Amino acid sequence: MVKFMALSLFATVLLLTIGVESFPLMNLYGYVHKDFNTHLYTYNASIIGYAVRGRTGLRNYMSEGIICLLDSDNSGKPFHHYENKENWLENLYTTNTSEVIGKNYEHKGIVGYCYPSQEPHTVPLYRYKKKIEMSAGLNDITDHYYTTDPNKIGLVTPGTTGNNGYTYEGVACFVYNVKYHT
Ligand SMILES: *[C@@H]1O[C@H](CO)[C@@H](O)[C@H](O)[C@H]1NC(C)=O
Ligand SMILES: *[C@@H]1O[C@H](CO)[C@@H](O)[C@H](O)[C@H]1NC(C)=O
Repeated sequence: MVKFMALSLFATVLLLTIGVESFPLMNLYGYVHKDFNTHLYTYNASIIGYAVRGRTGLRNYMSEGIICLLDSDNSGKPFHHYENKENWLENLYTTNTSEVIGKNYEHKGIVGYCYPSQEPHTVPLYRYKKKIEMSAGLNDITDHYYTTDPNKIGLVTPGTTGNNGYTYEGVACFVYNVKYHT
């Protein structure tokens, strides 16, 4: 806990230095499931138990470290977290609530606030998807993967598929990019 707070403080000081005015910012932690390679994102690392990259915590999720920083107030748009009602391995994050209308998702909350267009010191948060096959009796799911680093999947052309079978969908929103983990 002290470690998370120290990182947040560091981020705040760093961003103050470069002149960002909306505060405080929150870390968005990324996790990958060790068996299914599906992704989960949260500001609350306690739900898995680790923020340190490479450590595996609850529900067999391994930390991928801090993905980006999000605003904690409503100067941006809410970045909503939805979970597939049939399968908790599928998590969707979007600023567009229309996207889930008529789909089998449960709203799990807001993970932070981000921007529909580029603001000073923000970068695109790229969104990718991949079909994940489940074992017999369970419906296949769609994994949603988010990164500020276009080199991870290797392309940002909508509808094209890159590394690890992920297809680029577009920019989810614009976020603050502070990389502790690369
Ligand atoms: C973070 O998650 C822990 C464990 O589930 C929970 O006890 C705590 O209330 C959560 N904190 C926030 C700010 O959501
Ligand atoms: C939001 O989602 C709806 C349904 O998928 C889509 O028609 C619309 O274009 C989206 N809006 C934006 C701003 O992306």
